[in-house]
Amino acid sequence: MSERVSFGSRMGAIFAAAGSAVGLGNVWRFPYEAGNHGGAAFILLYLGCVFIFGLPIMIAEFTIGRRSKACTGGAYEVLAPGTHWRWVGYLGVLTGFLILGYYSVVAGWTLEYIWQALTGGFVGKSSGDYVRMFQDFSQHPFRPLVWLFAILFVTHWVVVKGVKDGIEKASKIMMPLLFVLVVLLAVCSVALPGAEEGLKFLLYPDFAKVTPDVFLSAMGQAFFSLSLGMGCLSTYASYFGSKTRLGQTAMSVGLIDTFVAVLSGLIIFPAAFSVGIQPDAGPSLIFITLPNVFQQAFAGIPLLAYICSVAFYVLLALAAITSTISLHEVSTAFLHEKFHFTRSRAAVLVTSGCMLTGVVSSLALGEWSAFKICGMNMFDALDFLTAKIMLPVGGMFAAIFVGWIIDRKIVKGEVTNYGSLRSSYYPVYLFILRFIAPVGIIMIFMNELGLLG
Ligand code: PHE
Repeated sequence: MSERVSFGSRMGAIFAAAGSAVGLGNVWRFPYEAGNHGGAAFILLYLGCVFIFGLPIMIAEFTIGRRSKACTGGAYEVLAPGTHWRWVGYLGVLTGFLILGYYSVVAGWTLEYIWQALTGGFVGKSSGDYVRMFQDFSQHPFRPLVWLFAILFVTHWVVVKGVKDGIEKASKIMMPLLFVLVVLLAVCSVALPGAEEGLKFLLYPDFAKVTPDVFLSAMGQAFFSLSLGMGCLSTYASYFGSKTRLGQTAMSVGLIDTFVAVLSGLIIFPAAFSVGIQPDAGPSLIFITLPNVFQQAFAGIPLLAYICSVAFYVLLALAAITSTISLHEVSTAFLHEKFHFTRSRAAVLVTSGCMLTGVVSSLALGEWSAFKICGMNMFDALDFLTAKIMLPVGGMFAAIFVGWIIDRKIVKGEVTNYGSLRSSYYPVYLFILRFIAPVGIIMIFMNELGLLG
């Protein structure tokens, strides 16, 4: 068998994993979930979920991937042959495929906004105009589809190019750029008149607003944002070299991801309050507040407003693409490794399937919005099902698998790089995987269903 490709360096591995984690989940989903669930209290619960469940489960997924040297759809079979654990891998592939459909729709919106920014579409508009502009666009039957296909084509192209020249290189360029811009914009937003209200919303928790739904949403957001629970990071970890330090990589990815999410909150909320937009506007939030921020923050310097708005949406698109690549890779690697399709044939199948789910998700916001499942349109239903149910369930099984099923020597060997590192966090890590994560996740589900009183 030919040797498996791997990322070129330890930094490359961190960038690729962070590229997957940092995306629309941080800049688009995190602010509107926080806005819908009361702000600071949600954020505290979210941080709790990231550090208590998220990081240990991330190390567990790294362990599964690097040890098996297989994509998630095959990893459980390699590590526990002949058992039903392989279904956890398949569940991950399905989850990633479903997420990619609606995620690409939103990624497509960022392209429309680049176009608007480039052609001066944000200039001289009122807050109400931005709301209408977004609604007209997102409910249009064709326009969002053009951008959706564009995103899927770019994603397809990078995935076909492969792991080192495609995924690793793209992430290494895009991530640092995004970082710098997010910091700059947060500074601008906090300096807007009336920004204090937004800061208050973000920093003073109101625990009266914490309902069971807030717990579930915070947990779902943590899994979604860290790309956990569907084997995305375990697939990437199958390309990690033997010197990559799993604990350190997880910590770096977790910190980078949290930093970008919190900074996105610092961009959106002060800006939203400053221009009088409610923070619970939902999925449209960043598309209606940000154009306004650019115009207002740099009202006297139109060139700067222009450059910043173009740059922001370009980088948002890039961050989204490093995530769509990772979602696509899970299904592509699965078809390639399990059914022996060539990588490019596997990628064609995945891209075509996602075009279908993408079209359905996009039309669900316009023409097909009357079609509802449990009171939600197809777009919201897919988001709910994947982020709030499938990812936490997948993460819980990954924790149980590494905590209880795999040989303890392997579990310890992977975190210590077979004895060359002193991983003093190991006992805590194992305890979380075996008890805290599974029990905690089940309790959050029971709480949501009203079973905890
Ligand atoms: N973590 C990505 C984001 O925040 C989304 C994602 C979820 C990517 C699951 C891969 C797997 O945008």
